[in-house]
Amino acid sequence: MTGLVEPHGGGQLKPLLIAEAERAEERKRALTLKQVPMTSRETSDLIMLAMGAYTPLDGFMGFEDWQGACADMRLADGTFWPIPITLSCARDIADAISPGEEVALGDAETGDIMGLLEVTEQYEAEPDFECTHVYRTTDPAHPGVAKIQNQSDVNLAGRVRALSEGVYPERYKGLFLRPAETRALFAEKGWSRVAAFQTRNPMHRSHEYLAKVAVEVCDGVMIHQVLGALKPGDIPAEVRTRAIDALVEHYFVPGTCVQAGYPIEMRYAGPREALLHAVLRQNFGCSHLIVGRDHAGVGDYYGPFDAHHIFDTVPEDRLITRPLKMDVTFHCYRCGGIATGRTCPHGDEDRLQISGTRLREMFKNGGNVPAEFSRPEVLEVLRAYYAGLH
Ligand code: ADX
Repeated sequence: MTGLVEPHGGGQLKPLLIAEAERAEERKRALTLKQVPMTSRETSDLIMLAMGAYTPLDGFMGFEDWQGACADMRLADGTFWPIPITLSCARDIADAISPGEEVALGDAETGDIMGLLEVTEQYEAEPDFECTHVYRTTDPAHPGVAKIQNQSDVNLAGRVRALSEGVYPERYKGLFLRPAETRALFAEKGWSRVAAFQTRNPMHRSHEYLAKVAVEVCDGVMIHQVLGALKPGDIPAEVRTRAIDALVEHYFVPGTCVQAGYPIEMRYAGPREALLHAVLRQNFGCSHLIVGRDHAGVGDYYGPFDAHHIFDTVPEDRLITRPLKMDVTFHCYRCGGIATGRTCPHGDEDRLQISGTRLREMFKNGGNVPAEFSRPEVLEVLRAYYAGLH
């Protein structure tokens, strides 16, 4: 017994990666099957399935699960699930596939065969229904919505067996940790109350504050960064990792913090994505997810605390991992440090608002970033990155 939260769905972790001993043989067989190309998001979802992060899913969703996830945040069997995990396919390819046929799933960008799918169902994609429920908008300017709208017409569903985790295990050695591995790590440290800090940014002072509040109230924090594709302008994972390493080395008590990365591709679905983040953190063994301002949002599509409110609609018996809800954090010159609206009585004129977007803008405009915004060791890493870009 580790005392960690149990995997989502109440059972065991379900990694869908084929055992190494069988992989070569299955890969050979895959070459003889029809090929279905996957978008980068679908490939990253396949790898999430492979590593067990999407437990208890056993493949890409059929119509009932898709519809339930969109409209009611539940699968056909009642399991809580807030965002559909689907595979789209061009109609001419789909038409040639017979019921029950096994097909090979290839990464459309690299051509690599990534897995096998037993196609038990095909159904028409309904982007408007999905986007209205999940993204609360059908605006094609929303980067997550655009991906759904640009998908092929038909969804293929069925059990998946993965043949590969792509470039992640090699490229992100030590950082790419599967749920079974983070659980083992937490157990070894004797942690049971673990907070996940989700991020796609190099950490600035507000991020540092959020992670440290979690250290105050939990056994430890896992800084868990997105390794999948991001939107243009976001900072690459390699640079973020160096920046976060520098921050952890100089400003965290050793043993309070674990760094890891996972291969999800951001959907920018705000509140719904915050819930998905909690589901998968439960699989990684985290009892809490830090949810700050506009978690997983983009532009002005979501209110700053929509991702807090949505958790209030989900009872604990449906989702064990709970949010650590955090107000907007900023530097207050009069308080002399990072604070939130709950702890600082001063006005806007005394506050420096901190965000990843503002940090990127400051670098674009010459790189004069105040010390209140970011630690010097982090700025050094970012400065080198931006200098290389120019
Ligand atoms: S994302 O997944 O939400 O897109 P990001 O790196 O931008 O990742 O933010 C990581 C976490 O920090 C999220 O929970 C976000 O809500 C929170 N956050 C970022 N900046 C602030 C801030 N200034 N105040 C409060 N929360 C913040």
